[in-house]
Amino acid sequence: MGSNLLKEKKGIIFGALNDKSIAWKVAEKAFEEGAEFTLSNTMVACRMGEVVELGKKCNAEIIPADATNVEDLENVYKRSMEVLGGKIDFVLHSIGMSLNVRKKRVYHDLDYNYLQKTLDISAISFHKIMQVGFKMDAINPWGSMLALSYVAAQRTLYGYNDMADAKALLESIARSFGYIYGREKKVRVNTISQSPTPTTAGSGVKGIDGLMDFSDRMSPLGNASAEECANYCIVMFSDFTKKVTMQNLFHDGGFSSMGMSIRAMNQYNKSFDNEDVSTKY
Ligand SMILES: NC(=O)c1ccc[n+]([C@@H]2O[C@H](COP(=O)([O-])OP(=O)(O)OC[C@H]3O[C@@H](n4cnc5c(N)ncnc54)[C@H](O)[C@@H]3O)[C@@H](O)[C@H]2O)c1
Repeated sequence: MGSNLLKEKKGIIFGALNDKSIAWKVAEKAFEEGAEFTLSNTMVACRMGEVVELGKKCNAEIIPADATNVEDLENVYKRSMEVLGGKIDFVLHSIGMSLNVRKKRVYHDLDYNYLQKTLDISAISFHKIMQVGFKMDAINPWGSMLALSYVAAQRTLYGYNDMADAKALLESIARSFGYIYGREKKVRVNTISQSPTPTTAGSGVKGIDGLMDFSDRMSPLGNASAEECANYCIVMFSDFTKKVTMQNLFHDGGFSSMGMSIRAMNQYNKSFDNEDVSTKY
């Protein structure tokens, strides 16, 4: 049972692929909280039965778009405003993809065409979503634009590859656009930096199981789940966060503030004699 936190709010949710996706959980919660919204994803993803089911369940129209294509994005806003009957109050950017990760190119042997794609799909698309919304004047005052990030934007985490650069750019775009969107239209822009989460995109990261286990043990509150992330997104779309903008908000059980825990210290002391000095990638 929801609390009508998003009653009368209209939104666009990008990036629900299957029931593991963070965007999927956000869609379910937003529906529970009384929002009306459209769903968008690539043409291929939109044709998948699961996305169609989510649309039916949430009474949401599905609008295909490549988030790197400005014309597609214009259509998403136009159609969303038609079906929802007015301007938009919240947008979720839950999009990420690296061909270097997919094709197992390591960070010191990147394919630069792939890198361009990584940055375009995973970061610049957030700029495009905001620029199109800004130019079309499609977002209501006190609207909320939100994207999902990861702590690899600030710290090097083995295996995250060029997605770390994409996340750093994504967070910078949120600040830069947040200033203009706030000043001109009273729209807030933030990123939520989420714990590693077992989703399709997450499982592409090299050594994701070890990384998830490490951050779970290192975080005083443990890893945050996709569902918990969705709850935070709903709060960020609600009127309870109207003056929060240009922030990267950690939602990670405390991981990003930890250096060494007693548990990790004990483990380190135990295993020190058998140290593996290998630096294989
Ligand atoms: N899973 C994690 O560990 C984790 C941690 C922190 C942040 N995030 C971020 O959360 C967001 C959502 O990822 P997820 O973990 O739910 O995985 P996911 O695979 O379910 O979602 C990624 C989505 O991006 C979409 N996408 C890819 N290319 C696109 C394009 N050109 N146009 C439009 N959509 C496109 C995919 O279709 C998919 O729906 C991503 O930004 C991801 O980096 C994930």
